[in-house]
Amino acid sequence: MGNQDAPAKAGTIRHFRIWRGDESGGELTDYQVEVNEGEVVLDVIHRLQATQAPDLACRWNCKAGKCGSCSMEINGMPRLGCMTRMSTFDENETVTITPLRTFPIIRDLVTDVSFNYEKARETPAFAPPPDLAPGEYRMQQVDVERSQEFRKCIECFLCQNTCHVVRDHEENKPAFSGPRFFIRAAELDMHPLDTRTDRKEYAQASQGLGYCNITKCCTEVCPEHIKITDNAIIPMKERVVDRRYDPLVWLGSRIFRRGQDGAGQSPRDPDQLGVAHSHAGASHEPGAETDAERGLHWGRQVPQPQAPAVDSRGRLPISEFAFDRPAAPSPFGDDVTFPMPAKDLNYAHPEQQD
Ligand code: SF4
Ligand code: SF4
Ligand code: FES
Repeated sequence: MGNQDAPAKAGTIRHFRIWRGDESGGELTDYQVEVNEGEVVLDVIHRLQATQAPDLACRWNCKAGKCGSCSMEINGMPRLGCMTRMSTFDENETVTITPLRTFPIIRDLVTDVSFNYEKARETPAFAPPPDLAPGEYRMQQVDVERSQEFRKCIECFLCQNTCHVVRDHEENKPAFSGPRFFIRAAELDMHPLDTRTDRKEYAQASQGLGYCNITKCCTEVCPEHIKITDNAIIPMKERVVDRRYDPLVWLGSRIFRRGQDGAGQSPRDPDQLGVAHSHAGASHEPGAETDAERGLHWGRQVPQPQAPAVDSRGRLPISEFAFDRPAAPSPFGDDVTFPMPAKDLNYAHPEQQD
């Protein structure tokens, strides 16, 4: 990368290397292309198509940084072609343009990003109260502002392409939705009219939130400057842990469950429900709680909880209160001090083992 302020001289010939090929293979091809002052990388690609390489495939739509189509890797950095000024490169620098590495190649700079649409389909939709018709939604401005940052997403998928969890690990894709869909989960979690209360737990159990080790690479490449890691991922991770290990939440869940049993509801027999007994909060579906528990699996030996089981009516015996932990055991183990050594951060998702 060169001087940000130095304008490209009008009509200079610059050297480009562009990946040409398809799913069966390809190579970097050299081109000498004219570059004029004020142009962006996408302008150069268009000139190349008009003059030397009419069959060069490149996806684009708006040329204004708003459609998210022109994602590519420029000198190894995931960027939007239409928002990358030629003046950011040194005059003699070779500009190398390659397709997004995380997704299958279709041709040249065009990749198959359908992984992201599959993940979008899997993400539970906005769930307004059933008695509220469209047009009757009312929100305070403060609630709009909270999630506004995440609504700026243009679905360029640069963050998805950058995340190391899937970038070189095809095997992680089934279990990992990626940062774009973590911000979607966070946005819906903040939405005052969304009736689902398990967005965080769902992200942990089914979207692979636990894979993320908050490297912030996704944040670094986001063209909309969304603080993906700081404002969406980390708060969700914190709240998943809060719910599971906060003694007050735990106590509340015990009282809540007893109230349910007393009201004549079915006993919460863990075997019957198909879940392991745990001390976690209970504001969501029982299956999600177990999944969330499975999702926290840190590639090291973790002590299993030795909690007393509930009785046939789903109530906890008095020995529960004498239990030596205020909640479930730490997923990190009781003997761990923070910060954890890097070698212990090798997260392994259980579904990956399946
Ligand atoms: S912060 Fe998490 S989601 Fe973002 S790139 Fe790193 S591992 Fe992936
Ligand atoms: S969060 Fe940012 S990088 Fe990710 S898809 Fe949206 S705009 Fe692109
Ligand atoms: S062409 Fe629309 S974001 Fe680049």
